[in-house]
Amino acid sequence: MKRRQFLTCAATALAAPALMTRRAFAAEPGAPLPIPAVMEIGPDAGHTLTARNGTRAFMDGAPSPTLGYEQDYLGPLLRFQRGRTANIDVVNRTDDPITAHWHGMHVPGHLDGGPQLAFAPGQTWSPELPVDHPAATLWYHSHVHGQTADQVYRGLAGMIIVDDPDVDAGLPDDYGFNDIPLIVQDRNFDRSGRMSYDLGMMGVMQGFRGSEILVNGAIRPKLTVPGGLVRLRVLNASNARIYDFSFADGRTFHQVGTDGGLLPAPMGRTTLQLAPAERAEIVVDFADRAPARLVSRDVGSGGMMGGGSMMGGGGMMNGGGNSDSTFEVMSFDVGDAAVTAPATLPKTLPSDIRDMGEPVRTRSFRLNLHGGGMMGSMFNTLIGRDGQAMGINGDSYDMNRIDQAMQLNETELWRIDADMQAHPFHVHGTSFQVISQGGRAVDPQQVGLKDVVLVDGPTEILVRFDKCATAETPFMYHCHILEHEDAGMMGQFTVS
Ligand code: C2O
Ligand code: CU
Ligand code: CU
Repeated sequence: MKRRQFLTCAATALAAPALMTRRAFAAEPGAPLPIPAVMEIGPDAGHTLTARNGTRAFMDGAPSPTLGYEQDYLGPLLRFQRGRTANIDVVNRTDDPITAHWHGMHVPGHLDGGPQLAFAPGQTWSPELPVDHPAATLWYHSHVHGQTADQVYRGLAGMIIVDDPDVDAGLPDDYGFNDIPLIVQDRNFDRSGRMSYDLGMMGVMQGFRGSEILVNGAIRPKLTVPGGLVRLRVLNASNARIYDFSFADGRTFHQVGTDGGLLPAPMGRTTLQLAPAERAEIVVDFADRAPARLVSRDVGSGGMMGGGSMMGGGGMMNGGGNSDSTFEVMSFDVGDAAVTAPATLPKTLPSDIRDMGEPVRTRSFRLNLHGGGMMGSMFNTLIGRDGQAMGINGDSYDMNRIDQAMQLNETELWRIDADMQAHPFHVHGTSFQVISQGGRAVDPQQVGLKDVVLVDGPTEILVRFDKCATAETPFMYHCHILEHEDAGMMGQFTVS
């Protein structure tokens, strides 16, 4: 199958208004799904990604002050090609320091966009990214320590697609037609219709959970798809919410990719759990031409204590973890557009998942709510908005402390466990393989290449680094509940 010729960057900018119809944001549920404009980033100069202030009317009423890269809210879809340098100028026209972290990319620490690489309003950061990554769905977001939750909430995030020109997976790949980005977020709105970020006591503790679901910045939108196979690249870009997606009619779909690339074979399933920052590529068959609704079960804040938390499942914002309630994410109907290839799913996929060999050492990580004992940690958490409340292995994040030193190209076994609730654990600079999760052995071939794993009981991963990171610009590992990360549930490490 032929890969469609993508627009050049300049042409894309001109084409953007057609792709991003203003109407889409006049915001009732059921408005058309906005499809982010494409910026294909290659080795040539002149690709500018400007972070700026914006406003967006998400619903009838007052517009909300927002942040975005190149647009009012969220950012364009960045397309990188494996084996080619991506040369990009990130410009800061917001009022605060920002970063652009390439979440999931395998680039050295000085290009990674972590907290040490924050740059001030008026400044430009120009990384040259060697794209050494299999075809995958990644993303980018700001990563300023103590500000990540707020900046991502207001809009500083977007999707990245890495293409591999040497590999044709035989999957739907006509962007915006049968290959669709879905950036899923939950948000709250005040009575005037403005987006609001009000944590409350439980939100400080558990992370933010909003009562409205946005996909690509629109509330519960609708997409018209061709009557055949459609690939959905689903990114959970929510601050803290865990989704358990399914279709309201219970249909089977196939998962073909995870955080770091393709699975060895399509996997039939009816539900899909995604914790914050996780991605999945799924292929849905609309050949029956029936409309469909993508829904999610309300999974609360994690299953470790039976799906609720230490406070009991019923007392949380928006319902507790034991609830069976589902809510709508978006809907699909089938249009008249001629169905394009492929007509069937390939039996196997060109996965980059490899045998990592025996680990040469073991490290243990405990994600904790700091302060000693349950009451102490609750207290610290509730009062601690100063980045000192939560930690890993007893230490809150400190930009001036290196927590671990990894050796280049050595496989390690990491054992991760967590206090009280489920935490999505993320590692920069690599993809890892999960060998057990929640105390149960899992098949890495079925879990795929990962950079986030939901730690809901003892979890083991095999990890190896082939990119360097110095003490000046180390890599991070952290909980991707952004409020936990900002509160100090993060550590940093060198690779040499
Ligand atoms: Cu999504 Cu440390 O990042
Ligand atoms: Cu990351
Ligand atoms: Cu956490």
